Amino acid sequence: MIDEINTIPDILKKESPVDESILSLRPRSLTEYIGQDKVVETLKIAIEAALKRLEPLEHILFNSPPGLGKTTLAHIIAHEMGTKIITSSGPALEKGGDLMGLLTHMERGDIFFIDEIHRIPKVVEEFLYPAMEDFAVDFIFDKGVHARTHRYRLERFTLIGATTRAGLLSSPLRERFGITRDLDFYSEQDLVRIVKRSASILNIDIDDEGSYEMAKRARGTPRVANRLLKRVRDFAQVRAGGYITRQVAVDALELEGIDECGLGEVDRKFLRAIIINYKGGPVGIDAIAATLQLESDVLIEVVEPYLLKAGFIVRTSQGRKSTERALEHLKIPPVGKSDTQPLF
Ligand code: ADE
Repeated sequence: MIDEINTIPDILKKESPVDESILSLRPRSLTEYIGQDKVVETLKIAIEAALKRLEPLEHILFNSPPGLGKTTLAHIIAHEMGTKIITSSGPALEKGGDLMGLLTHMERGDIFFIDEIHRIPKVVEEFLYPAMEDFAVDFIFDKGVHARTHRYRLERFTLIGATTRAGLLSSPLRERFGITRDLDFYSEQDLVRIVKRSASILNIDIDDEGSYEMAKRARGTPRVANRLLKRVRDFAQVRAGGYITRQVAVDALELEGIDECGLGEVDRKFLRAIIINYKGGPVGIDAIAATLQLESDVLIEVVEPYLLKAGFIVRTSQGRKSTERALEHLKIPPVGKSDTQPLF
């Protein structure tokens, strides 16, 4: 389970709830939000329309790799609708009763945010169907021939689900969302704007080249950009007079093991495993996971998406294959010309 393991590269881990300085970097409104222009436009329209009709929003599903803004958008939506947000996650909702407790305390228009909704247990998911569709939950008393049900009416709430694996959602659940959007990796230009905005909030001087260098190494991911910025800020304040230039960013990030394409040690091990241990692939994800002694889920949800997006690997029906770009990046000669030994 992704939330139980401690093998996720540090840079991609969720911030702990006490990491206030990262939280303070989150935009609070859609006008402050940088990137995901089409999604933001859809949300602005849906929110304005719902407010005009004095109605709660439809249920919304966000799908993307980690760190691209699903939770941030849920908080912004609650803020813009002027409602409360109650947050939970798929693995935390173990029994129908856990869900009932939350739903029955919800007020009209409240946002119920479920992170990692694809990990919700089946029994809990079945409680969600009538809750989402009819704003009611059926409570069952007794068992067998004595079983009786009582239908509790709920206030009209909005469920916002976040997932890194929309494909794992059952179709009845997926179909109950009125708005479903995939969030994509951010462009370098958007990440430059995010880095500059965060630097100004954190009160650290940075020039254009410094911002660009950080954006380039942020794996298309604002959460990564903000994490890197905090490391580079420390470095700049201790070693470089508190000013982030390109060279300061390069030196600080090299120290962190982040290369010029934003790949870290786990990414490079992943690529080397395919190239060297499996001769470039195709190879199944479970074999790579066993070689690296990491969970397949982490590789699928956290590591692979950016490597695919950036063209370091491709996915075929037989498995993952490395690309020429990966060989060039790692400076490994093409197959046949290599005498490189397997990693493990
Ligand atoms: N910080 C993290 N994500 C952001 C975004 N999309 N826009 C502005 N600041 C951010």
